[in-house]
Amino acid sequence: MDIRGLAYVTIETTDIGKWRKFGTEIIGMMESPNMPDDGNLYFKLDEYQYRFRIIPGKQDRFVLPGWEVPGEEAFEQAQKELKKAGVPFKKGTAKEAAARCVRGFISLKDPGGHEIEICWNPKLDYAPMISPVGVPRFETGYHGDMGLGHIAVATPCLKETREFYLNVMGFGQTDYMHFHFNPDPKDPGQGLHFLHCNNPRHHSLALFEDKNPHPGNLVHLMVEVESLDDVGHFMDRVHQNKIDVVTGLGRHTNDKMVSMYIKTPAGFAMEFGFDGVQIDWSNYTPTESSATSHWGHRWGQG
Ligand SMILES: [Fe+2]
Repeated sequence: MDIRGLAYVTIETTDIGKWRKFGTEIIGMMESPNMPDDGNLYFKLDEYQYRFRIIPGKQDRFVLPGWEVPGEEAFEQAQKELKKAGVPFKKGTAKEAAARCVRGFISLKDPGGHEIEICWNPKLDYAPMISPVGVPRFETGYHGDMGLGHIAVATPCLKETREFYLNVMGFGQTDYMHFHFNPDPKDPGQGLHFLHCNNPRHHSLALFEDKNPHPGNLVHLMVEVESLDDVGHFMDRVHQNKIDVVTGLGRHTNDKMVSMYIKTPAGFAMEFGFDGVQIDWSNYTPTESSATSHWGHRWGQG
């Protein structure tokens, strides 16, 4: 399968107003100017008509990622491969596709039980992204072809979930880390796989081994900006608005991202960073890293 990037994310909220403020005033995204007034909240980051779809509901949670394939043939091929692998999926109706601003999509679940969608030809409206807090540009590649960022999801069955994303969804292995949070030497610890799809981002998906569900149904969601100053201004907005910091500023070892993590209104973390490495996968050797960060990323410290 030829996944090109994270086209959109859907998030459920009990409080649209909280997400409006968080998305525009803290992250600095623009409320999408060309979406219908359908009760949902949409944020724009780049040429795509929207990237975040926030839907009112009974829970505060990450609902699903929308993974993009390049065109109708790739979309047909994806369905053939899912059928061959015995993975059930449901085709979205024309009305549902129109609501997502894509030409078509299917819904399925990964082995960890997370919902995902696979779509083709999301709409690019080219309306300028005018950030209400002056973020000059979000790094999403040429016309958004690197996807909106990356997600890290928790799975109770790391091996099966990884195999599904590698062998069925066509992702590639980038890096692996192993953690021992429990001082008990008999504790096997927890693994974290970083996987890339067909764009230069170091990873578009990370899979974290955890039997317990994470707050808001996600470990974190990352968006990237273009400069250290953009991250610094973000840090000031976080402190001015007394947003909970998950980890303070730091530079990751594997993707080189300089970032900080904060708590979203859904309870999961959001990483806001710059300087993420971009890789040519033709000659890449997957790594195993034993440290998450060169410096910083201290828990709970701004
Ligand atoms: Fe991340």
